[in-house]
Amino acid sequence: MCEKVAVYPGTFDPITNGHISVVNRGLKIFDKIIIAILINPQKRPLFSVEERIMMIKESLKDKPNIEVDSYDGLLVDYVARKNTNVILKGLRAMSDFEYEFQMALMNRKLNREIQSVFLMTDYKWFYISSTIIKEAARFGADIEGLVPPIVCKKLKEKFNY
Ligand code: PNS
Repeated sequence: MCEKVAVYPGTFDPITNGHISVVNRGLKIFDKIIIAILINPQKRPLFSVEERIMMIKESLKDKPNIEVDSYDGLLVDYVARKNTNVILKGLRAMSDFEYEFQMALMNRKLNREIQSVFLMTDYKWFYISSTIIKEAARFGADIEGLVPPIVCKKLKEKFNY
């Protein structure tokens, strides 16, 4: 049987327990998940691509069938280069829906072979985003339990607390 591979794209600046929840759910459906970080010169990320890759690898080191990679350019071209046709994305509250719907339709317009699949994060992580984690950490908030331990450590180093 042919291996079913999904690409889980994003900024992952940094990876949170919400992302981990989507990966865990995805692994129940797909044989392999490629976590792909967009190299986006327009955004000013807190962590370098190398730091983000390291944190993802460390957070998921016990999980089989995970690849961590980066890409630039169009997502659909990257997915095709990886010889697959599935984009995996996470959905939290309704507020994610409009943006994700727009992206999925645009991606379908660009390549009709590629399917977007959405999985809901665990309800525990509904309110969590990389942005809100960074905001809280910047002001020294306790973010333990919301992100993997390596991310907690790196955020504390970045913001000196
Ligand atoms: O975690 P994010 O920031 O919501 O992820 C968005 C991401 C990186 C998946 C998306 O912006 C992306 O893949 N951009 C690359 C360019 C692209 O293909 N855009 C969509 C069609 S124009």
